[in-house]
Parts: sequence; structure tokens; C-alpha cells
Amino acid sequence: MVKNQWVFKKLYKNKLQGQVWIVENQFGQRGYFKFTTPRQWYYSGPMIADELIAAALAKELGLPVANLDLAVVRGPTGAPQKGLVSVGVSAKEVITWEEAKKIHHNPNEHVNNANLLCSIVVFDAWIVNIDRALGRNLVLYRNNPADKFDWYLIDHGHTLHDSPHKWKRGEWKSRHWERLWRFHSVPKGFLNLGFSREKLEPMINKIENLPPSAIDQAIKKAPRKYLNPRGRLFIKGLLLYRQKKIRTIITRWLNYKGKKEFGRS
Ligand SMILES: Nc1ncnc2c1ncn2[C@@H]1O[C@H](COP(=O)(O)OP(=O)(O)O)[C@@H](O)[C@H]1O
Ligand SMILES: [Mg+2]
Repeated sequence: MVKNQWVFKKLYKNKLQGQVWIVENQFGQRGYFKFTTPRQWYYSGPMIADELIAAALAKELGLPVANLDLAVVRGPTGAPQKGLVSVGVSAKEVITWEEAKKIHHNPNEHVNNANLLCSIVVFDAWIVNIDRALGRNLVLYRNNPADKFDWYLIDHGHTLHDSPHKWKRGEWKSRHWERLWRFHSVPKGFLNLGFSREKLEPMINKIENLPPSAIDQAIKKAPRKYLNPRGRLFIKGLLLYRQKKIRTIITRWLNYKGKKEFGRS
């Protein structure tokens, strides 16, 4: 496989947590580049590891997810930065779920694989992802306005090692992290997909039946310099523990009447 050469195109986002650059490779593909600098305190090595591991798990479970490419890119000043490119699709229309407001009231009419889309709640519960709530980390795309949207997942930096267990809401094995509705909101309009046990059962099954070797394989996707042995053990422990709990976690959430969409109480 030819190695991608990514070049800086423009600054996309500049936030406290770090910048995102739009980059382009020699084949004209667009990518979104995030990198680590000592000053960008919270986007650190383990978060790159979280991204790589979560993406590998998503793939293993049959969820579409952006390709990731570890890369060095020269920025506007010419200084090289080391980071991760999230590769974009080439399609006429590429928008986030958040931006696709028009489809929020009847998403089933506008997206392909709607049941699989529902099941990302199960995946996110497993990896303790609270960062899907805004609807920015779910990308929709299509080439023709008459078509339904295809979709894929991005941005798993706040999962696994850097999931909110760090935010002092109780140790990660505490009951808090088994009550999905306490820490997880789905994006606006998502509940209009209509959630049911039948829709979520296949993903629950897939996660329950994932062998430990598949989890090991995913963890191996993180290069040694981004994740130390302790971090690896932590992630493995978390995944194995929540794998056993996932059915209970989802059953409780399905039965819970006050399920939340982001920004709605
Ligand atoms: N593969 C991709 N395809 C399309 N858009 C993307 C992709 N990766 C990132 N983006 C866009 O860039 C934004 C920021 O990227 P993200 O990885 O979510 O970083 P952040 O940590 O800033 O949330 C996303 O909300 C999305 O709009
Ligand atoms: Mg994001």
C-alpha cells in the first residue's frame, strides 16, 4: 500500500483542547488532522490510542468508521506535527448528524441501515463514549439528494482510557457507569429512530460474543509510545468488565422512560 502524504490545507477548528486541520493527500482525499503538543494538555497520547482502539472495535462489530492514519504534517509555519488523520469520504454531501436538522424528525426516511445506526448506542455504552451527544461525531454522506444518507462514526478520543471515569463521578466499576441515562444522551432527533430490543439485540450479541483475542487485537492497534502497559491493562479490564454488563446496561436503558436527547430535558 502506498503511504499517504498529507499536506496542510487550512485550520478547521482551534479550541482549547487542540486544533483540527484540514489536510489533503496525494490522491486528493480530504482528512481531518488532530495532533498533540505539550500545550494542548488534554489531547494527549492515550487519546490517540483510544481513537485507534475504538475504531478497530467498531470495524470488528461491523460499524462503519472513518479510516485513521498516523501522520506527520507540516503546518502553516512549516513545523512538523505528529498526529492522527481521520480520513473523510469523497461524496457530494458530507455533513454531521447535528447539521442535518431536516432529517431529525423522521430519520428513518433519510438514512440507510437505520437499525445499525440505533445500535451505536450499544457500542458507545460499551466503550463509555459520552461524546456522541452533540451529533458531531457521526457523519452522514450521499452523492445524490434523492438518496438516503450513508453514515460513519468518527472521534473516539473520549472513550476507554479517557472516558469520563476520570471525572470523579465514582470509580469506573461503580453503578454510576451502568446507568446509561445518567451520563449518556443521544443526539437530537435520535430517539425518532425508534428504539427497541429487537433493533439492539444483534449488537448486544456481537459484543457479548467477541472473544478476548479480538479485544487484544484492537488494543494492539495503539503503538507503544501512545499507551503504556498500565493503560493497556486498564482498557482491557474495562472492555471485559463492560462486555459482561452490556445486556443489563442496555435493558435498563430501554426500560427507562426518561431517555434523553442532548439539550432536551
Ligand atoms: N472523517 C471525517 N469525515 C468528515 N468530517 C470529519 C471527519 N473527521 C472529522 N471531521 C469533522 O471535524 C470535526 C472535528 O473532528 P473530531 O475528530 O470530532 O475532533 P474534535 O476532538 O475536535 O471533536 C468533526 O466534528 C467533523 O465535523
Ligand atoms: Mg468531535
